[in-house]
Amino acid sequence: MIIGAGPSGFYAADQLLNAGLEVDLLDALPTPFGLVRAGVAPDHPKIKAVTRVYEKTARKPGFRFFGGVRLGADVTRAELLERYHVVLYALGTSDDNRLGIPGENRPGSHAATHFVAWYNGHPDAADHEYDLSVSRAVVIGNGNVAIDVARMLVLHPEELAPTDTADHAIEVLSAAQVQEVVLLGRRGPAQAAFTNPELRELADLQRAGVEVDATDLELDEHSARWLEEDADITARKNVEILRAYAESGPKDASHRIVLRFLRSPVEILGEGEDGPVTGVRVVKNRIEPTDGGGLRAVPTGEEEVIEAGLVLRSIGYRGRPVDDVPFDDRRGLIRNEGGRVCSEAGDAHHGEYVVGWIKRGPSGVIGTNKKDAADTVAKILADRDADVLNVPALPDPEAIAAFYAERAPDAVTWEGWQAIDEHEKTSGEPHGRPRVKIVRLAELVERSRATSSR
Ligand SMILES: Cc1cc2nc3c(=O)[nH]c(=O)nc-3n(C[C@H](O)[C@H](O)[C@H](O)COP(=O)(O)OP(=O)(O)OC[C@H]3O[C@@H](n4cnc5c(N)ncnc54)[C@H](O)[C@@H]3O)c2cc1C
Ligand SMILES: NC(=O)c1ccc[n+]([C@@H]2O[C@H](COP(=O)([O-])OP(=O)(O)OC[C@H]3O[C@@H](n4cnc5c(N)ncnc54)[C@H](OP(=O)(O)O)[C@@H]3O)[C@@H](O)[C@H]2O)c1
Repeated sequence: MIIGAGPSGFYAADQLLNAGLEVDLLDALPTPFGLVRAGVAPDHPKIKAVTRVYEKTARKPGFRFFGGVRLGADVTRAELLERYHVVLYALGTSDDNRLGIPGENRPGSHAATHFVAWYNGHPDAADHEYDLSVSRAVVIGNGNVAIDVARMLVLHPEELAPTDTADHAIEVLSAAQVQEVVLLGRRGPAQAAFTNPELRELADLQRAGVEVDATDLELDEHSARWLEEDADITARKNVEILRAYAESGPKDASHRIVLRFLRSPVEILGEGEDGPVTGVRVVKNRIEPTDGGGLRAVPTGEEEVIEAGLVLRSIGYRGRPVDDVPFDDRRGLIRNEGGRVCSEAGDAHHGEYVVGWIKRGPSGVIGTNKKDAADTVAKILADRDADVLNVPALPDPEAIAAFYAERAPDAVTWEGWQAIDEHEKTSGEPHGRPRVKIVRLAELVERSRATSSR
């Protein structure tokens, strides 16, 4: 069985089915597809079309889906090991990294992970509130998630309207007063983690221009040498794209995304001790080589204040420990060696495996998880051939389905999800939207029950 129905869970399911195993795929949510549904930006519908591949997997004989079954709440690790030869964790990394600076918890300072979940209609984020009546926002971090959230803040309502952004977020984003979003990188332009299409795409925004200060793009000697001798094509092209932005100057637009580099936040400022955000105090950094051959940001001591009423911290995701599954706290991942869950001493736990972001960390695009799944599935098949899988006491598939029905009476089957899917798509059609997402768990479950009338 696989727990977690995101890309890594689906790729692994497909490969295990192809190898002749039966697969039960569980997810905490009634809906499948993990971050493809709840992470990928709503204005990128083509990327979401990857779910067609997963739907094909779900049609294969031997596949069953149990949505709305949470490991650590509805079922325990021990109970799964009592029932399956293989337990494969594909849980993703749902927590956010913390900056660890004063003011981080002020009203108006939010984890980008939460903001993303909110505009994408994740049920856990449906009641979150964002005050977008501010004129400037600061997004901390230089990855693609930072670009996603910056873009979402300045999209024209006409750009938002044809998307599957959750209705509650469309309402708030369309009325947003944010006119300037400052994207803050602690290292330089050469070290930005953006990918080229995402950075380039900012030029196409309907009502927002991109601003980069040319002096921010003057490379220090270490970065210049690194870019020349070691950097991959993505980093080189990023610098080219940024230079083109600096040269073309700001376009005549009502909104702006301003990219600033070599600045780390040291304090989120606000009214009084716990009052709302009024700005970010940042320190200017310089780049220095590390002993390991990398390049790091070192504070110069020179500080400045960027006034802002909203801060989104986009500095990466982090795995959440679940039940008593072995967890490496330092890395924020399930403890494993090459996909085999193991103890601190490195001993493999027979029959337990891990795949995707919770195995290797929160980086990589959807497709990266396919190769990653192949690596873990190869270990599972090798262990099957070596006859060292888990030996379950209660493996009967019908009894397992009854067990879930008892533990999670609202659990949603694949047919149940199809009923939700059809309803969401039908609701979106008249408005030219791919779907209107249902964001409440009770309503999702109710819709899934409409299967019998179909
Ligand atoms: C904001 C954002 C935007 C992105 N945009 C793109 C993009 O445009 N293009 C691209 O190629 N890649 C994109 N990515 C990367 C891509 O989403 C990831 O590579 C991929 O989703 C990781 O897959 P995963 O299966 O490991 O984890 P996830 O997709 O996170 O899936 C994990 C699943 O496990 C379930 N789960 C968690 N805990 C439990 C539990 N205790 N019990 C049961 N189920 C549980 C979750 O509900 C979830 O469905 C984006 C990532 C983010 C964060
Ligand atoms: N369209 C797409 O294809 C798409 C969209 C979204 C996400 N994704 C993928 O999903 C993965 C996760 O994206 P992500 O943006 O969350 O992570 P990411 O690419 O790892 O970027 C994290 C950023 O946070 C910065 N950072 C970390 N700690 C910091 C701190 N304490 N202070 C200041 N800055 C800090 C990092 O800077 P340093 O480099 O200095 O550490 C980096 O710029 C990536 O692989 C991404 O490509 C893809």
